[in-house]
Amino acid sequence: MPAANALSPILDPLALAGQLSGKLLIDGALTPAVSGKTFPVINPATGKKFAEAALGEKSDVAAAVSAAARAQPAWARIPARQRGKLIADCGRLLNEHVEELGRLVALETGKALRTESRVEASVLADVFVFYAGLGSELKGESVPFNPDMLTVTVREPIGVVGAIIPWNVPMMLMALKIAPALVAGNSVVVKSAEEAPLAVLRACQIMNQILPPGVLNILSGFGPECGAPLVADPRVGKVSFTGSVETGKIVYKTAADKLIPVTLELGGKSPMIVMADADVDRAVAGAIVGMRFTRQGQSCTAASRMFVHEKIHDEFVVKLRAKVDAMKMGDPLDETTDIGAIISRPQYEKVTSYIKIGRETPGAVAHECTAMPTDPDLKDGLFIRPVIFAGLTNQSRVAREEIFGPVACVIKWRDYEEVIAAANDSVYGLAATVWTRDLRMALDATRRLQAGFVQVNQNLVVQPGLSYGGVKQSGLGKEASHEAMLDHFTQKKTIILNMT
Ligand code: NAI
Ligand code: MG
Repeated sequence: MPAANALSPILDPLALAGQLSGKLLIDGALTPAVSGKTFPVINPATGKKFAEAALGEKSDVAAAVSAAARAQPAWARIPARQRGKLIADCGRLLNEHVEELGRLVALETGKALRTESRVEASVLADVFVFYAGLGSELKGESVPFNPDMLTVTVREPIGVVGAIIPWNVPMMLMALKIAPALVAGNSVVVKSAEEAPLAVLRACQIMNQILPPGVLNILSGFGPECGAPLVADPRVGKVSFTGSVETGKIVYKTAADKLIPVTLELGGKSPMIVMADADVDRAVAGAIVGMRFTRQGQSCTAASRMFVHEKIHDEFVVKLRAKVDAMKMGDPLDETTDIGAIISRPQYEKVTSYIKIGRETPGAVAHECTAMPTDPDLKDGLFIRPVIFAGLTNQSRVAREEIFGPVACVIKWRDYEEVIAAANDSVYGLAATVWTRDLRMALDATRRLQAGFVQVNQNLVVQPGLSYGGVKQSGLGKEASHEAMLDHFTQKKTIILNMT
């Protein structure tokens, strides 16, 4: 670990943002875009610009991919456990920067520091340390093909990986891609989300103190001008994408033309089924976590369809509302804040339009929670009061479409067969939870729910070691696990040594 030029944590996020303004990270160095152009980075809590990000375009993509392609062969020749050790060092170094990374991501995303942003920064190391230990597990097989021939399969890196990430948990979602890709011997070019380009850039700068130049590069810029050329670059052999279904399909089509593999982590409308015998308080606590109220509901896994049995429905709604009401919405950097701001104006418009649609739906009851912040500095901030809808059916738009905001639907049910059918009546299939004391019913539901991740009586978020990824339009492939590294960041080669 280089001590002499080690980066010191910068706890003032404005000062740190100033240092990173207008920069990409290519071949180990911070550099402006070829065009010299930038775009504004906005604080969603105030609506004010606080920094500029470099506007990466095709020529920047070409430079980053060139650097990655140059660096990759030597990186792949480092023994796998040694690569793993370097990735573990990255994790440890990131851990020394938790506070600054948390503050910077809070400033650019509007996610509250205490409940979300610091938590995101503090779990990064876990992902790196998990994958670091898997260097020696990039194993192939020996095959009893012919006694006179040594026949083996080996796992080789793919080459240059393109990683396209969203803004909601930018550092964590980046970590889930770059840690396994790097341990497996690939080099990586990341394209950050236009709304949150700085904390991920800082994280890559920190890791570049340890990694050889060119192994990990990061670009900021817009989707069509910077993301699309990264996917299309002929030297990129794999793309791992997290974001919307719509953009995921565009990425998949471009990748199909090149016949390269993709991992797609897309949206969701995850059901939570609460049975009549469930522990209501526990289910309500699970709904708070599941719906990610502290992240303004901006989660692909948000438990946004809560199917609650009619016997406990009213109690559930009252208790859920009381808990959300008790949360404080305000300045993301204030330690007392539970709920921050919505990421961007378009996202704000999208969420408020769904709230309007819900309110206008016959039978709907909208429970609006928490108070708006009163601080005058926040008067232009993108704050939305969380809404819990009761009285909607699974057929309503609010219950069917991904809102990606603090809008929950509580849907009353009576018949078990009908609720399973309703839960599965969705184009999505990312996650689901079941709440009951009856383990036989729980097992039955887990088997019948169409989702990539089903939990009973809990609502854990992504865990290193557990495969995570959706079915149906929620995506393709898995992340976070050992298999995810083998299946998505290596390719198998069969080798026969004829000794006759
Ligand atoms: P998006 O899918 O457009 O953006 C995600 C990433 O893809 C960003 O880095 C973006 O620059 C990039 N991108 C956009 N167009 C591209 C293209 N043609 N080629 C390559 N890369 C491209 O998502 P956006 O616009 O931020 O949000 C829209 C909706 O998507 C949200 O309302 C939400 O429903 C969903 N979403 C889901 C996420 C998830 O975690 N699964 C994360 C973010 C958004
Ligand atoms: Mg978009």
